[in-house]
Amino acid sequence: MKSYRDRFHIPKRREGTDVIYFAGNSLGLQPKTARAYVEEELEDWAKHGVEGHFNARNPWMPYHRLLTAQTARLVGAEESEVVVMNSLTVNLHLLMVSFYRPTADRYKILIEAGAFPSDRYAVASQLRFHNLDPQIALVEAADILAAIEQEGPSIALVLVGGVNYATGEYFDLEAITRAAHQQGTIAGFDLAHAAGNVPLHLHDWNVDFAAWCSYKYLNGGPGAIAGAFIHERHHRSTLPRFEGWWGHDESTRFQMGPKFEAMQGAEAWQL
Ligand SMILES: Cc1ncc(COP(=O)(O)O)c(C=O)c1O
Repeated sequence: MKSYRDRFHIPKRREGTDVIYFAGNSLGLQPKTARAYVEEELEDWAKHGVEGHFNARNPWMPYHRLLTAQTARLVGAEESEVVVMNSLTVNLHLLMVSFYRPTADRYKILIEAGAFPSDRYAVASQLRFHNLDPQIALVEAADILAAIEQEGPSIALVLVGGVNYATGEYFDLEAITRAAHQQGTIAGFDLAHAAGNVPLHLHDWNVDFAAWCSYKYLNGGPGAIAGAFIHERHHRSTLPRFEGWWGHDESTRFQMGPKFEAMQGAEAWQL
Protein backbone atom coordinates (compact mmCIF):
# COMPACT_ATOMS: atom_id res chain seq x y z
CA MET A 1 0.00 0.00 0.00
CA LYS A 2 2.94 2.31 0.72
CA SER A 3 3.28 3.61 -2.84
CA TYR A 4 -0.32 4.87 -2.79
CA ARG A 5 0.72 7.56 -0.34
CA ASP A 6 2.58 9.32 -3.12
CA ARG A 7 -0.59 9.69 -5.13
CA PHE A 8 -2.00 12.31 -2.74
CA HIS A 9 -1.16 15.85 -1.68
CA ILE A 10 -0.48 15.70 2.05
CA PRO A 11 -0.84 18.98 3.99
CA LYS A 12 2.30 20.19 5.77
CA ARG A 13 2.82 21.24 9.36
CA ARG A 14 4.22 24.73 9.91
CA GLU A 15 7.76 23.35 10.14
CA GLY A 16 7.33 21.68 6.75
CA THR A 17 6.79 18.03 7.65
CA ASP A 18 3.76 16.07 6.43
CA VAL A 19 0.78 15.91 8.77
CA ILE A 20 -0.45 12.45 9.72
CA TYR A 21 -3.87 12.53 8.11
CA PHE A 22 -6.71 10.79 9.95
CA ALA A 23 -9.53 12.94 8.55
CA GLY A 24 -10.52 10.60 5.70
CA ASN A 25 -13.88 10.29 7.45
CA SER A 26 -14.47 14.00 6.87
CA LEU A 27 -12.64 14.97 3.70
CA GLY A 28 -10.25 12.76 1.82
CA LEU A 29 -6.86 13.96 0.62
CA GLN A 30 -6.57 15.53 -2.82
CA PRO A 31 -5.33 13.03 -5.39
CA LYS A 32 -2.47 14.58 -7.38
CA THR A 33 -4.37 13.72 -10.57
CA ALA A 34 -7.39 15.85 -9.59
CA ARG A 35 -6.02 19.18 -10.88
CA ALA A 36 -5.31 17.82 -14.36
CA TYR A 37 -8.77 16.29 -14.57
CA VAL A 38 -10.45 19.56 -13.56
CA GLU A 39 -8.33 21.51 -16.03
CA GLU A 40 -9.29 19.08 -18.79
CA GLU A 41 -12.96 19.84 -18.18
CA LEU A 42 -12.37 23.60 -18.13
CA GLU A 43 -10.44 23.38 -21.40
CA ASP A 44 -13.21 21.35 -23.01
CA TRP A 45 -15.86 23.79 -21.80
CA ALA A 46 -13.82 26.70 -23.23
CA LYS A 47 -13.27 24.89 -26.50
CA HIS A 48 -16.69 23.32 -27.09
CA GLY A 49 -19.26 25.28 -25.10
CA VAL A 50 -22.55 23.39 -25.19
CA GLU A 51 -21.17 20.86 -27.68
CA GLY A 52 -19.03 19.55 -24.83
CA HIS A 53 -22.08 17.58 -23.72
CA PHE A 54 -21.23 15.29 -26.63
CA ASN A 55 -17.74 16.22 -27.82
CA ALA A 56 -15.72 16.75 -24.65
CA ARG A 57 -13.03 14.15 -23.97
CA ASN A 58 -15.38 12.90 -21.25
CA PRO A 59 -18.78 13.88 -22.68
CA TRP A 60 -20.88 15.51 -19.95
CA MET A 61 -24.26 14.16 -21.03
CA PRO A 62 -23.57 10.64 -19.77
CA TYR A 63 -21.12 11.85 -17.06
CA HIS A 64 -22.48 9.44 -14.46
CA ARG A 65 -21.69 6.42 -16.64
CA LEU A 66 -17.98 7.18 -16.30
CA LEU A 67 -18.38 5.97 -12.75
CA THR A 68 -20.93 3.16 -13.01
CA ALA A 69 -18.57 0.20 -13.22
CA GLN A 70 -16.24 1.36 -10.42
CA THR A 71 -19.18 2.31 -8.25
CA ALA A 72 -20.85 -1.07 -8.69
CA ARG A 73 -17.60 -2.84 -7.81
CA LEU A 74 -17.07 -0.62 -4.79
CA VAL A 75 -20.39 -1.43 -3.12
CA GLY A 76 -20.85 -4.97 -4.47
CA ALA A 77 -23.71 -4.24 -6.83
CA GLU A 78 -24.89 -4.96 -10.34
CA GLU A 79 -24.24 -1.98 -12.62
CA SER A 80 -27.97 -1.43 -13.04
CA GLU A 81 -28.33 -1.04 -9.27
CA VAL A 82 -26.12 2.05 -8.83
CA VAL A 83 -26.09 5.62 -9.99
CA VAL A 84 -24.02 8.65 -9.01
CA MET A 85 -26.13 11.75 -8.50
CA ASN A 86 -26.84 14.66 -6.14
CA SER A 87 -25.47 14.78 -2.61
CA LEU A 88 -25.89 12.18 0.10
CA THR A 89 -28.69 13.84 2.06
CA VAL A 90 -30.63 14.53 -1.13
CA ASN A 91 -30.32 10.87 -2.07
CA LEU A 92 -31.44 9.73 1.39
CA HIS A 93 -34.55 11.87 1.02
CA LEU A 94 -35.27 10.63 -2.51
CA LEU A 95 -34.87 7.03 -1.39
CA MET A 96 -37.05 7.51 1.67
CA VAL A 97 -39.75 8.91 -0.60
CA SER A 98 -39.73 5.53 -2.32
CA PHE A 99 -38.97 3.19 0.56
CA TYR A 100 -40.59 4.73 3.60
CA ARG A 101 -44.27 3.90 3.12
CA PRO A 102 -45.87 4.09 6.58
CA THR A 103 -49.20 2.43 7.32
CA ALA A 104 -51.40 2.68 10.43
CA ASP A 105 -49.63 -0.32 12.01
CA ARG A 106 -46.16 -0.13 10.50
CA TYR A 107 -44.84 3.40 10.61
CA LYS A 108 -41.63 3.63 12.67
CA ILE A 109 -38.12 4.34 11.42
CA LEU A 110 -35.27 2.69 13.33
CA ILE A 111 -31.85 4.39 13.31
CA GLU A 112 -28.69 3.69 15.29
CA ALA A 113 -28.14 5.57 18.56
CA GLY A 114 -25.68 8.38 17.85
CA ALA A 115 -26.51 8.54 14.13
CA PHE A 116 -25.07 11.41 12.13
CA PRO A 117 -27.24 14.43 13.09
CA SER A 118 -28.16 15.24 9.50
CA ASP A 119 -29.55 11.73 9.04
CA ARG A 120 -31.64 12.24 12.14
CA TYR A 121 -32.94 15.56 10.77
CA ALA A 122 -33.73 13.90 7.43
CA VAL A 123 -35.57 11.01 9.07
CA ALA A 124 -37.50 13.23 11.50
CA SER A 125 -38.57 15.52 8.67
CA GLN A 126 -39.74 12.54 6.61
CA LEU A 127 -41.85 11.43 9.58
CA ARG A 128 -43.37 14.89 9.93
CA PHE A 129 -43.96 14.95 6.16
CA HIS A 130 -46.19 11.90 6.74
CA ASN A 131 -47.91 13.65 9.69
CA LEU A 132 -46.12 11.45 12.21
CA ASP A 133 -44.52 12.58 15.46
CA PRO A 134 -40.79 11.75 15.64
CA GLN A 135 -41.16 11.44 19.43
CA ILE A 136 -43.26 8.35 18.78
CA ALA A 137 -42.18 7.11 15.39
CA LEU A 138 -38.39 7.60 15.52
CA VAL A 139 -36.70 4.70 17.31
CA GLU A 140 -33.01 5.06 18.22
CA ALA A 141 -31.23 1.93 19.39
CA ALA A 142 -27.67 0.89 20.18
CA ASP A 143 -28.51 -2.77 19.51
CA ILE A 144 -30.16 -2.70 16.09
CA LEU A 145 -30.89 -6.44 15.92
CA ALA A 146 -32.54 -6.45 19.35
CA ALA A 147 -34.67 -3.44 18.40
CA ILE A 148 -35.79 -5.13 15.17
CA GLU A 149 -36.69 -8.21 17.18
CA GLN A 150 -38.65 -6.18 19.75
CA GLU A 151 -40.42 -3.67 17.57
CA GLY A 152 -40.37 -5.39 14.16
CA PRO A 153 -44.08 -5.34 13.29
CA SER A 154 -44.30 -1.57 13.84
CA ILE A 155 -41.08 -0.68 11.98
CA ALA A 156 -41.46 0.38 8.36
CA LEU A 157 -37.81 1.23 7.74
CA VAL A 158 -34.44 0.46 9.29
CA LEU A 159 -31.94 3.15 8.23
CA VAL A 160 -28.48 2.68 9.70
CA GLY A 161 -25.07 4.20 9.01
CA GLY A 162 -22.97 1.28 7.69
CA VAL A 163 -20.02 2.55 9.73
CA ASN A 164 -20.93 5.02 12.47
CA TYR A 165 -19.28 8.39 11.85
CA ALA A 166 -18.18 8.92 15.48
CA THR A 167 -17.44 5.48 16.92
CA GLY A 168 -16.28 3.71 13.76
CA GLU A 169 -18.58 0.78 14.59
CA TYR A 170 -19.05 -1.33 11.45
CA PHE A 171 -22.51 -2.81 11.61
CA ASP A 172 -23.28 -6.27 10.27
CA LEU A 173 -25.30 -5.06 7.30
CA GLU A 174 -26.14 -8.56 6.10
CA ALA A 175 -27.52 -9.63 9.49
CA ILE A 176 -29.49 -6.38 9.88
CA THR A 177 -30.96 -6.76 6.41
CA ARG A 178 -31.93 -10.39 7.06
CA ALA A 179 -33.52 -9.54 10.40
CA ALA A 180 -35.39 -6.59 8.90
CA HIS A 181 -36.73 -8.68 6.03
CA GLN A 182 -37.85 -11.42 8.41
CA GLN A 183 -40.04 -8.78 10.06
CA GLY A 184 -41.32 -7.41 6.75
CA THR A 185 -39.25 -4.25 7.12
CA ILE A 186 -37.17 -2.37 4.56
CA ALA A 187 -33.40 -2.12 5.19
CA GLY A 188 -31.51 0.94 3.94
CA PHE A 189 -28.01 2.19 4.77
CA ASP A 190 -26.06 5.43 4.82
CA LEU A 191 -22.63 4.33 3.63
CA ALA A 192 -20.83 7.68 3.97
CA HIS A 193 -18.18 6.09 6.19
CA ALA A 194 -18.29 2.65 4.61
CA ALA A 195 -17.91 3.25 0.86
CA GLY A 196 -14.23 2.96 0.03
CA ASN A 197 -13.47 1.93 3.60
CA VAL A 198 -14.87 -1.59 4.10
CA PRO A 199 -15.84 -4.40 1.69
CA LEU A 200 -19.50 -4.20 0.72
CA HIS A 201 -21.77 -6.74 -0.99
CA LEU A 202 -25.06 -4.87 -1.18
CA HIS A 203 -26.56 -7.04 -3.90
CA ASP A 204 -25.77 -10.37 -2.26
CA TRP A 205 -26.78 -9.07 1.15
CA ASN A 206 -30.17 -8.19 -0.32
CA VAL A 207 -29.99 -4.61 0.95
CA ASP A 208 -33.01 -2.64 -0.28
CA PHE A 209 -31.30 0.71 -0.81
CA ALA A 210 -28.23 2.71 0.18
CA ALA A 211 -26.64 6.10 -0.35
CA TRP A 212 -23.18 7.49 0.27
CA CYS A 213 -20.96 10.48 -0.44
CA SER A 214 -17.68 10.38 -2.30
CA TYR A 215 -15.64 13.13 -0.61
CA LYS A 216 -14.46 11.01 2.33
CA TYR A 217 -12.72 7.68 1.76
CA LEU A 218 -13.25 8.08 -2.00
CA ASN A 219 -11.22 11.32 -2.12
CA GLY A 220 -13.76 12.99 -4.41
CA GLY A 221 -13.25 16.54 -3.12
CA PRO A 222 -15.67 18.92 -1.39
CA GLY A 223 -19.06 18.89 -3.08
CA ALA A 224 -18.25 15.73 -5.08
CA ILE A 225 -21.22 13.83 -6.38
CA ALA A 226 -22.83 11.13 -4.25
CA GLY A 227 -23.94 7.54 -4.95
CA ALA A 228 -27.14 5.56 -4.61
CA PHE A 229 -27.99 1.85 -4.71
CA ILE A 230 -31.42 0.36 -5.34
CA HIS A 231 -31.61 -3.44 -5.35
CA GLU A 232 -32.72 -4.83 -8.69
CA ARG A 233 -35.77 -6.54 -7.22
CA HIS A 234 -37.26 -3.04 -6.76
CA HIS A 235 -36.57 -1.82 -10.28
CA ARG A 236 -39.85 -2.93 -11.77
CA SER A 237 -41.98 -2.37 -8.70
CA THR A 238 -44.60 0.32 -8.37
CA LEU A 239 -42.71 2.27 -5.73
CA PRO A 240 -43.54 5.95 -5.76
CA ARG A 241 -40.68 8.21 -6.74
CA PHE A 242 -39.91 11.90 -7.11
CA GLU A 243 -39.15 12.16 -10.81
CA GLY A 244 -37.32 14.49 -13.18
CA TRP A 245 -36.13 14.43 -16.75
CA TRP A 246 -32.82 12.66 -16.08
CA GLY A 247 -34.77 9.61 -14.91
CA HIS A 248 -36.66 9.53 -18.20
CA ASP A 249 -35.78 6.91 -20.79
CA GLU A 250 -32.77 8.46 -22.49
CA SER A 251 -33.74 7.22 -25.95
CA THR A 252 -36.78 9.50 -25.95
CA ARG A 253 -35.78 12.08 -23.31
CA PHE A 254 -35.12 14.84 -25.81
CA GLN A 255 -38.44 14.40 -27.56
CA MET A 256 -39.55 16.43 -24.53
CA GLY A 257 -42.88 14.61 -24.27
CA PRO A 258 -45.30 15.22 -21.39
CA LYS A 259 -45.40 11.62 -20.14
CA PHE A 260 -42.64 10.19 -17.94
CA GLU A 261 -41.15 6.93 -19.20
CA ALA A 262 -38.60 5.63 -16.72
CA MET A 263 -35.03 4.54 -17.34
CA GLN A 264 -34.36 0.96 -16.30
CA GLY A 265 -32.73 0.46 -12.93
CA ALA A 266 -31.31 2.93 -10.43
CA GLU A 267 -30.93 5.60 -13.12
CA ALA A 268 -34.72 6.08 -12.98
CA TRP A 269 -34.20 7.88 -9.65
CA GLN A 270 -32.07 10.62 -11.28
CA LEU A 271 -33.52 14.10 -11.45
C1 LIG B 1 -23.02 9.63 8.00
C2 LIG B 1 -23.29 10.88 7.24
N1 LIG B 1 -24.51 11.08 6.72
C3 LIG B 1 -24.80 12.22 6.04
C4 LIG B 1 -23.87 13.20 5.85
C5 LIG B 1 -24.25 14.43 5.11
O1 LIG B 1 -23.68 14.43 3.85
P1 LIG B 1 -24.00 15.56 2.75
O2 LIG B 1 -23.77 16.88 3.39
O3 LIG B 1 -22.98 15.27 1.70
O4 LIG B 1 -25.40 15.35 2.28
C6 LIG B 1 -22.58 13.03 6.36
C7 LIG B 1 -21.55 14.07 6.18
O5 LIG B 1 -20.51 14.08 6.75
C8 LIG B 1 -22.29 11.85 7.09
O6 LIG B 1 -21.08 11.66 7.62
